[in-house]
Amino acid sequence: VHIKTANFVISNSEVAKCPNELLPEYAFIGRSNVGKSSLINMLTERKSLAKTSGRPGKTQLINHFKINENWFLVDLPGYGYARVSKKDKKTFQKYITDYFTQREQLVCAFVLVDIRHSPQQIDMDFMEWLGEHQVPFCIIFTKADKLKPGAIQRHVTEYLQELEKGAWEEAPAYFVTSSSKGMGRDELLAYIDGINLD
Ligand code: GTP
Ligand code: MG
Repeated sequence: VHIKTANFVISNSEVAKCPNELLPEYAFIGRSNVGKSSLINMLTERKSLAKTSGRPGKTQLINHFKINENWFLVDLPGYGYARVSKKDKKTFQKYITDYFTQREQLVCAFVLVDIRHSPQQIDMDFMEWLGEHQVPFCIIFTKADKLKPGAIQRHVTEYLQELEKGAWEEAPAYFVTSSSKGMGRDELLAYIDGINLD
């Protein structure tokens, strides 16, 4: 899959103001700092298309990036960020949940988890919530460069085994990625391309 064009279109905090074209879109969600924005830059091979930071809480809005003029990647704020006020947390969550329940163009959500961590309650809860709302999703393991090659598969297997203890009918598809190394890029783009062709 060749990415010819990748352009920022709009940032906003209301689903109603998202682009109204009927193009397929893919959204990145997960804990703050897990690497959502970095992954968008890695996939598009644009260094600073999406804004990244070493400090959690960088992405604050729904950000639409138009790819090859016919589909969108969507960067979202992270969840589980303790430093925002209670009130901010609420509005934060409201427009994120609205996005997932109302956005008809959303084809698949990618839930990012740090490959070094065992399943966190907040991620399990979020995946369960997506399931309840019938939002298709995949898991993306991030920061695989932080583990030795031999440890990668072990961590993934352990994670999926933990997930299976939940009441999943079928295990979600998953991808192992590293934004700093470009790992998982071909697989993820091929997956998106496969859905877009259907
Ligand atoms: P919020 O917008 O705050 O929710 O965070 P985010 O999920 O968009 O994370 P972001 O892409 O801003 O990255 C957070 C930090 O993790 C930055 O310091 C990145 O450089 C680092 N990071 C992201 N992906 C990788 C990766 O694959 N490997 C390594 N080693 N670091 C990464
Ligand atoms: Mg971000």
